[in-house]
Amino acid sequence: MEFTYDPAVFDQPQEENARAIILTEEAGLTTDDRWSLETDYLAPFLDALPGPALDIGCGAGRLSRELIRHGKSVVGIDPSPDMRRHARNYVEAAHGERAPFMAIDWAMAKNYEAGFFRSAVACWVLQHIPGQQLEEVIAEIARLLAPMSPFLLVNRTNRAIPVSYKNADGHTTHGWADDGRNLDRLLLGWFFLSDEEPMPTHLCEEGAYRRLYVRKP
Ligand SMILES: C[S@@+](CC[C@H](N)C(=O)[O-])C[C@H]1O[C@@H](n2cnc3c(N)ncnc32)[C@H](O)[C@@H]1O
Repeated sequence: MEFTYDPAVFDQPQEENARAIILTEEAGLTTDDRWSLETDYLAPFLDALPGPALDIGCGAGRLSRELIRHGKSVVGIDPSPDMRRHARNYVEAAHGERAPFMAIDWAMAKNYEAGFFRSAVACWVLQHIPGQQLEEVIAEIARLLAPMSPFLLVNRTNRAIPVSYKNADGHTTHGWADDGRNLDRLLLGWFFLSDEEPMPTHLCEEGAYRRLYVRKP
């Protein structure tokens, strides 16, 4: 069957639907359970990141808001205008209009000089970015980070590219596909791996990890 890369699944005008696609119900947990439990679990790792911080694939601003609570200034990057709007609203609801936060797309990220950021996080994002685009995204994260900056990665072991395909009856179905890309190899071109733990299975299904990378000098 012919699949087409189709990230439209992340274009969710309603915040509730955005959250539901960001943290799907799994491991016996609702989206709301996962939102609070996983954010609390990640809080000390986010606290350890220096600012200014990049939140790659910031979604509805869950981790940006937490990073700002820990005193960092944050730039969230997300290609979905809906997600960027949710992120701004979510951050502003907690930290006000003057919160040190911007939500931008990859084109705007090019305006930042090399090495501007002191840390980055990408949580449940890189598994969704296909082929050539993944190489470009990783190279751009590496460009934006100062040498020896930490990069916190939470990801699934399996690839999950958002795709759509036409059924025999002409209807379009959305799903997730494995593009066979080796993310680990790509990352090791730019980063040292400094720490790795499986994500606790009371928070999500098995097959996910939390890693700390460091930008090579
Ligand atoms: C599962 S959500 C995770 C959101 C957020 N990191 C969190 O954990 O709450 C995946 C996010 O990645 C974004 N995304 C998809 N493709 C991307 C790309 N090429 N670059 C950056 N973000 C991307 C989606 O729009 C979506 O907001």
